[in-house]
Amino acid sequence: MAGKIRRLIRPHLMDVQTYEAVDPPELIAQRAGIPESEIVKLNGNENPYGGSPKVAEAVAKAPTHIYPDPLQRRVRQALSGYTGAPPEELIAGAGSDELIDLLFRLFMEPGDKALDFDPTFAMYGFLARIAGGEIELVQRDEVFDVDVGAAKDAIDERTKIIFVASPNNPTGNLTPRDHVRELLDTGRIIVVDEAYYEFCDFTVADMVSEHENLVVLRTMSKWAGLAGLRIGYGIMNEELVQHVIDIKQPYNISVAAEAALLASLDDAPALLDNVGKIVDERERMTALLDDIAGVTPWPSAGNFLLCYVEPGAEPGRAQQVFEDLARRGIVVRMFGSERLRDFFRVAVGTPEQTDVFVNALREVI
Ligand SMILES: Cc1ncc(COP(=O)(O)O)c(C=O)c1O
Repeated sequence: MAGKIRRLIRPHLMDVQTYEAVDPPELIAQRAGIPESEIVKLNGNENPYGGSPKVAEAVAKAPTHIYPDPLQRRVRQALSGYTGAPPEELIAGAGSDELIDLLFRLFMEPGDKALDFDPTFAMYGFLARIAGGEIELVQRDEVFDVDVGAAKDAIDERTKIIFVASPNNPTGNLTPRDHVRELLDTGRIIVVDEAYYEFCDFTVADMVSEHENLVVLRTMSKWAGLAGLRIGYGIMNEELVQHVIDIKQPYNISVAAEAALLASLDDAPALLDNVGKIVDERERMTALLDDIAGVTPWPSAGNFLLCYVEPGAEPGRAQQVFEDLARRGIVVRMFGSERLRDFFRVAVGTPEQTDVFVNALREVI
């Protein structure tokens, strides 16, 4: 790009690293030289059963020529029925990713700090930097639990917001309520990201009424299979919801996403049956992986497993396994960090997908 234009870009955005998102299936298929229908895509923690059949019907009927309701009245009412929180304490975003972004815009000034517990969902660090802030990565302990003491030591007057994914992506573990309470006592905004709530039924959402600094994030991407339509929501005190409404784009969730959410919540029992199947499959997959020498799955409360690959004599063996699987059209997720060099994450799919994955893993390991 010509120097004159480069100079116009905000300095902190000059060298931002593009977020390492998962590739679309057609590209994976092209790379592996395999038809797209044969790809076993286990790298995005997506729902292998897809969304509710009622979603397609609802989206087809939705008035897509009309702008959506900026105050999301029907969506918030329906979410209230599902979560038990009052509509005034609910707000939806184009995926929980958008809400993460809005929270940074609301709380961070250039130079402010956000804190998260590494390894965790990379979106927090990415969006904090885009907002002009810094991200402080507090290391999780040896079993990937949140280290509250280290967090307290790291907090200073510029620390505004702390993110805790529970269950954590990619490690799969929960953060106990006591730890959340201790973090809340620091007075910072504490965001508990419960993207995988339905797979564990463990929540701190009931604590929102007592703690004005608690935000709980949820998504329709995982349990309801709506990752492609982009809709998530937050539960937080009413005043905070109003501030998010004040700064969000008025039409942030599309008419299609709104219709899909309403149809999904209507069909929640069927979707939760699928969640049950995924949870059963997670346990079956764990047992199968436990039987493979050289691979250890970590216990998980989500719809994915973090797997340790014994490095043996070859450094980078996990990367090799990843590549060998990819050549067979089976895609799992690797992470760039040193701490997770010997790990990959695999989503829990259908029993058929598990069998293909586990058999291939036995061959390549
Ligand atoms: C912990 C966590 N939070 C949020 C998200 C993003 O969810 P959404 O699709 O609603 O933006 C993910 C997606 O993988 C996640 O793992």
